[in-house]
Order: sequence, then structure tokens, then C-alpha cells
Amino acid sequence: MLVPANETSIRAAAARLREGGIVAFPTETVYGLGALALDARAVARIFEAKRRPSFDPLIVHVADERMLERIASEVPAAARTLMERFWPGPLTIVLPRASGVPLVTTAGLETVAVRMPSHPVARALLEAVGAPLAAPSANAFGSLSPTRAQHVAESLGESVDVILDGGTTPLGLESTIVRLTPHPALLRPGALAVEEIEAAIGPVERETSDATPSPGRLAHHYAPRTPLRIVEAEHVSLSERQGAGYLAFMNDAPGYAAVRVLAPQGSLSEAAARFFEFLHELDALGLRRIDAQPVPEVGLGLAIMDRLRRAAA
Ligand code: TXA
Ligand code: MG
Repeated sequence: MLVPANETSIRAAAARLREGGIVAFPTETVYGLGALALDARAVARIFEAKRRPSFDPLIVHVADERMLERIASEVPAAARTLMERFWPGPLTIVLPRASGVPLVTTAGLETVAVRMPSHPVARALLEAVGAPLAAPSANAFGSLSPTRAQHVAESLGESVDVILDGGTTPLGLESTIVRLTPHPALLRPGALAVEEIEAAIGPVERETSDATPSPGRLAHHYAPRTPLRIVEAEHVSLSERQGAGYLAFMNDAPGYAAVRVLAPQGSLSEAAARFFEFLHELDALGLRRIDAQPVPEVGLGLAIMDRLRRAAA
């Protein structure tokens, strides 16, 4: 549903978000597709709507210091300086993740990307929701970033609960992304010139090995330490199951040292919402091996299989 952004529609959109819905809204850079950042299922719906073949860590949008505290466990001095100088505005800062942030939001990373938008509609929406919103650009995988509500409607249409039309986004280019530890580095050039950032905090490394030539392909993406293979439990003998873990799609399997069932009802969005959490849990158990059951390669199943194949590689 595409509606002009005003007090009434923003209040209604905020209510949808609090129920776990997904809402497209304008920011000063591009339109974002938002969901409650702390609600794994709502965030999984973003990936579903974008039809991404892989998970990509999302940018979390905050309106104030209180929301920032729920997202980041620590704010280094250089980040403070940048926030005072450039927030609200088109600068995203990568910080250590607070424990309440679900891993589906960060695509398994222990860091989280945060920004405070300046667009009045984005701010009003965040304030009405009263909670941080995860929001990637509101376009389907492979299409251009949307600078008008109509672009969102053409690209995502029916899969979005509400599209708030706030006119053309003023900057029209995504935010600049930096990380600050172990030293400042540019992860994505964007609407704030890196020279301005350097004027505030000193040299910023331009070419990092973990920069993002293609989103979601970050070199430091979460990979389990435990060897992982993709296999159906029915092809694994009982003796082979000893000391190993099973990341199941729908059905439990006997004989494994630990089992996590992603989606007892077969829902791929439920599986996506739990995927990184369960992988982390199994990885922490000191197992010999993790056997991961393949999931159907449709919808979010594509993204889950993409991550499993990387983890198995
Ligand atoms: O201007 C913008 O940033 C827009 C508006 C809606 O805020 N959002 C946006 O999101 O461009 P998106 O999904 O297109 O880009 C998010 C990118 C990811 O592709 C990844 O490169 C980076 O942010 N990112 C997110 N979390 C990260 C993390 N923890 N570490 C490194 N990079 C991260
Ligand atoms: Mg994008």
C-alpha cells in the first residue's frame, strides 16, 4: 500500500512495524525497507521481500542515544566524534553488536552497522515506533536503489505492508559506511565525502580487504570454526552421528550430540530468522562436525543455502 507520509499514515505504519510488519520509508539517502531490528522474524521478512540469494548485514537506524544503547555494546571515542559531527545524516558506523541484536540482522557478524537518519519522515517513524529499525535499501535484489516511492512500489510492490511516500530522497546516494577498529576504514563510499570524515578523525583507510565490492560478500562474514557439510541425516550412519551436530530444516534426527531444528512447520522465513543463532550455538559446542540438512532452494531458502555452502567450503 503506497500512502503519502503524514502524521496519520506514519502512526499507522509504526503500528504495523510493532506487529512485525515491514514498511518502506524515505531517508535523506534512499528509501529504506524497515522492520524492528530486535525482532528476528520481522527482519527475516525483509530478506524475503528483497528476494536476496544471500543474507547481507543490515543497517540499523536509530533516533536517539537510548536506541543506540540497545544496538551497540560499545561506542569508541572516534565514533562519538563522528556522531557529534555528522549525525543525524548519511554516515553509517560499524560498532560492536549489543547482545540483544539478533544475528539475522547482522548476518552473523559480531558487529552492527548503525546510523541516525536526518529525513523528517524517517525520524518521525522511528520516534513513533520507539525502537530501532533495520533497513536496507528498499529495492529487490539486483535492482537500483530507490529514490522515489514509485521505485519501491515497482520493485517490491505487494510484499511490503506499507510504502510511505515522502517524495524524492534529497541525497539520492546511500550512506557512507566506516568502521573504526582496529583503525578507521572506509567500507562503502557514499553520500558523505570521506575527506569530511578525515577532517574530523584523521586518516581513513580507503582500500580495505573487507570493503564491500559486492554486498554480502564481506571477507569477515561469519564462518563456523566447526567443519560443516551439507547432508541429509538419513544418509549418515548412527556411528557417524556421534559427537556431531545436526542443523535440521524440519525434522529432528536421533544419534547426534546436538540438534537444532530451524523450522518445525517448514517455514523458510522462520528458518532464516533462526539460522545464524543456531549455527552459532552449534559452533560453540565443540562438536566434531556439523551436518546441515539442505533446505528447499526457493524464497529465503536460496539465501540459507548460499550461506551453508560458504560455511561448508
Ligand atoms: O543510505 C543507506 O545506507 C540506506 C538507507 C536506507 O539507510 N541503506 C542501505 O542499506 O544502503 P544496504 O542494505 O543497501 O546496505 C547495507 C550495507 C551492507 O551491504 C554491508 O555492506 C554494510 O551495509 N554493512 C551492514 N552491516 C555491516 C557490518 N556489521 N559490517 C560491515 N558492513 C556492514
Ligand atoms: Mg542496497
